[in-house]
Amino acid sequence: MIPYKHEPFTDFTVEENKQAMIEAIEKVNSYLGQDYPLIIGGERVMTENKLRSFNPSNREETIGHVSQATQEHAERAMAVAKETFETWRSANPAMRADILFRAAAIIRRRKHEFSALLIKEAGKPWNEADADTAECIDFLEFYAREMLRLKDGVKVESRPGEYNRYDYIPLGVGVVISPWNFPLAIMAGTTVAPLVTGNTVLLKPSSNTSVVAYKFMEVLEEAGMPKGVVNYIPGSSRDIGDFIVDHVDTRFISFTGSRDVGVHIYERAAKVHEGQLNLKRVIAEMGGKDTIVVDAEADLELAAESIVKSAFGFSGQKCSACSRAIVLEEVYDEVVAKVKEKAEKLTVGNPETNEHFMGPVIDDKSLNKIKEYIEIGKQEGKLLVGGTTDEAVGNFVHPTVFVDVKHDDRIMQEEIFGPVVGIAKAKDFTEAIKFANDTDYGLTGAVITNNREHLEQARRDFHVGNLYFNRGCTGAIVGYQPFGGFKMSGTDSKAGGPDYLVLHMQGKTTSEML
Ligand code: NAD
Ligand code: ALA
Repeated sequence: MIPYKHEPFTDFTVEENKQAMIEAIEKVNSYLGQDYPLIIGGERVMTENKLRSFNPSNREETIGHVSQATQEHAERAMAVAKETFETWRSANPAMRADILFRAAAIIRRRKHEFSALLIKEAGKPWNEADADTAECIDFLEFYAREMLRLKDGVKVESRPGEYNRYDYIPLGVGVVISPWNFPLAIMAGTTVAPLVTGNTVLLKPSSNTSVVAYKFMEVLEEAGMPKGVVNYIPGSSRDIGDFIVDHVDTRFISFTGSRDVGVHIYERAAKVHEGQLNLKRVIAEMGGKDTIVVDAEADLELAAESIVKSAFGFSGQKCSACSRAIVLEEVYDEVVAKVKEKAEKLTVGNPETNEHFMGPVIDDKSLNKIKEYIEIGKQEGKLLVGGTTDEAVGNFVHPTVFVDVKHDDRIMQEEIFGPVVGIAKAKDFTEAIKFANDTDYGLTGAVITNNREHLEQARRDFHVGNLYFNRGCTGAIVGYQPFGGFKMSGTDSKAGGPDYLVLHMQGKTTSEML
């Protein structure tokens, strides 16, 4: 077995790679606007009611019309998943892992096509789309190997005359609910982790990005995933969200998305319904309000670069994005000047031609929310850069920086999920860490300093699930930087880490007298 290594990113300055992506975009153009069915037990179910998935860079462009599941469809999917669990739970774990390895190989062969679809359906710039596809491949490769590591259980002690074993067995039917911002990587990772561990799944992808999820379903089928193991049921959350969470046969829920929805699901899943045999397990990975702390003894160029890249990469639409910076007062003016200079250079536009650093934000709802926060920011601090939008054809927001805000202002506390960052002052490093921790969230953070004691202080006191030193706060790599947050950022499930698969299984002890 080749040891796990993360998928390399594509260098699009190489002409051959650039041409390959242009061809992939043409290929995706050739199948835009098609109708997509649900997939229940391998059967294609085309519904009357379809949702139009569109390109956020060009709202007129239709990516596809996606069938929408009703409660009846969800009930059918649940029955199929429950029945399929009876065979899938005892399928050879190595065979299950092989399906993931094959799916990784298929996606690697069609890498640019998947990235092109992400450019179209999620408005990702080329490099961000390429990273999303690479992360999807990484999840497949990593979780397949993890299953091979765990398949024979974990060693426990036995006394003379006794043989004890501790094995992991799957849980049952899981409901996977995924977000639009990593529509391939997170959707795929949260789907295949339960599958490889022997569970069956109802997959409800985000309505904004259901076409890429359908394409992933096709890959799983091609790789040999048996019918009914994963059932694709996109649908309105109003119609089927509570239904699938509340269902008595739902054994676990793997949710990635906003805090409000995550908390809602967590609360509902706690209620035991008539006929329910298990307490539901919930993995809920939620929002962030992520801070970069800049110390006085720091490389200020690196600090500004880290803030700008982490705040504006994929238009700030990452749970890990830097949406607040806390800068020591001695270096505050210099850092602000450097951030201004860098942010003003960023261009915004349709990512398809790879000319712009930033693309659009996902939809009108998001655009309006960001605009509201820009108005709030104007009341709370000083607008340094941006604050404007271009809404004629797509949903574009210019990179926006507020300065002279207080660490506890609303724009420094609430998740905006767009290209908006606030910069506040702290009088010393201890106060900076205190301000950094003073949010409800605890997902990512970064510290830029050359002071070793301060790095150790941050390691101990900066309370986030993913803490980075002398770099930005986005871009965790599967198997290298397991990803998940503290506090209201979620259950810290650490996707891409050594504990992740176990969350989808239960430990069974057997003790035999010899
Ligand atoms: P969202 O909460 O609006 O939606 C997430 C998913 O939940 C979607 O598929 C949606 O259809 C579904 N959903 C909504 N209401 C539901 C309900 N009542 N019952 C069942 N399902 C329901 O989030 P989003 O806008 O898709 O994604 C952005 C959010 O996700 C941000 O807050 C971001 O920080 C967070 N996020 C977190 C992580 C992480 O690992 N912590 C990663 C990516 C995104
Ligand atoms: N895993 C993604 C990142 O680290 C969200 O940026």
